[in-house]
Amino acid sequence: MTRWNDGTDATASVSPDITDETNALPAKYFTDPAVHEMEQETVFSRYWVYAGHENAIREPGDYFTRTVGDRQVIVVRDKDRGMRAFYNVCAHRGSKMVDDTPMTDPGNANGIRCPYHLWTYELDGDLRSTPRSFEEAGMNPDLEDEDVPRLDPEENGLREVHLDSIGPLLFVNLDDDPMSLAEQAGTLKEELESFPLEDYELARRYVSEVECNWKTFSGNYSECDHCQANHQDWIEGISLSESELVVDDHYWVLHYTHDEGVEAAESLIEGEARFYYFWPNFTLNMYGNADGYGTYIIDPIDEGRFQLIADYYFKDAELSDEEKEFVQLSRKLQEEDFELVERQYEGLKSDALAQAQLGPNEHTVHRLHLLAQEAYDA
Ligand code: FES
Ligand SMILES: [Fe+2]
Repeated sequence: MTRWNDGTDATASVSPDITDETNALPAKYFTDPAVHEMEQETVFSRYWVYAGHENAIREPGDYFTRTVGDRQVIVVRDKDRGMRAFYNVCAHRGSKMVDDTPMTDPGNANGIRCPYHLWTYELDGDLRSTPRSFEEAGMNPDLEDEDVPRLDPEENGLREVHLDSIGPLLFVNLDDDPMSLAEQAGTLKEELESFPLEDYELARRYVSEVECNWKTFSGNYSECDHCQANHQDWIEGISLSESELVVDDHYWVLHYTHDEGVEAAESLIEGEARFYYFWPNFTLNMYGNADGYGTYIIDPIDEGRFQLIADYYFKDAELSDEEKEFVQLSRKLQEEDFELVERQYEGLKSDALAQAQLGPNEHTVHRLHLLAQEAYDA
């Protein structure tokens, strides 16, 4: 049931059962700065987080950086064409090494060099070289040059981050001993790998900052009960009544069927749109009426702001007029959603609501809330 804030703070944890009266995550988890801090550890340092697309770094030495919370990793293709990720932190004295490098504008280097004292690392993270000043003790009266130990390349190498992939989609995990990506993804891995996602090129990226908690947008993405009232252009040609919401452990999918007679473009999944939400903050969007797909990265900035990175993949990075129009329609949809979630967030911030009431078709939202609660409680 809906619980208004009556000052007694009588909110309960989200119940595992959606028919239970405490089926939503208490509102304070959307507005409390301490929860944002806690999520850096309990959510973003523990689960597999999307890093980027393999097509962005095809050649050895190609790299991009990805910031997860207050940590940044370098994702690089090594000399054997394998993918690796390292903290963007020097093993000498901890300097940030490479500049922010989004995958839309990747870098290339034959090694990773720290600008502070020029320690240089191989693409597999081993220490390659240090300047002579680290091999000689000329300025240290207590040491002879021959007493200076040689640094072990591996012991003094970069700190590697767990990296794995679903098709060309790269994920990183900041935990020391994480569950496998296959375990977190479950059947999603096989399902997505049955599509030729690697045959598509990144054609557009839009980055937006939105005034609400990241989970507010995630919840909005996960249901279409709001579509009729708010996305007139989008639902034209879609049979909402034939939509289906499927929920698995760490992901859920919204299937939308296009009306008969809607011209289905050559596409990944003709005539059917599928929107995959993969906990904690990644979505894959297959439109059914465009030969391409999109992804969202929903990065929290603080408790009341997040950044949406919306990427669009097509067969050719040069878009046809029709594809440009399609992307514009999708952008319009995003902007409509931004308005909705900012409005919802104003309400949440007012502190009037203590715990929301989810409906029967919001079982995807319920799953989102439950995973958050599980992460906090773990
Ligand atoms: S901190 Fe990187 S070389 Fe010194
Ligand atoms: Fe929406």
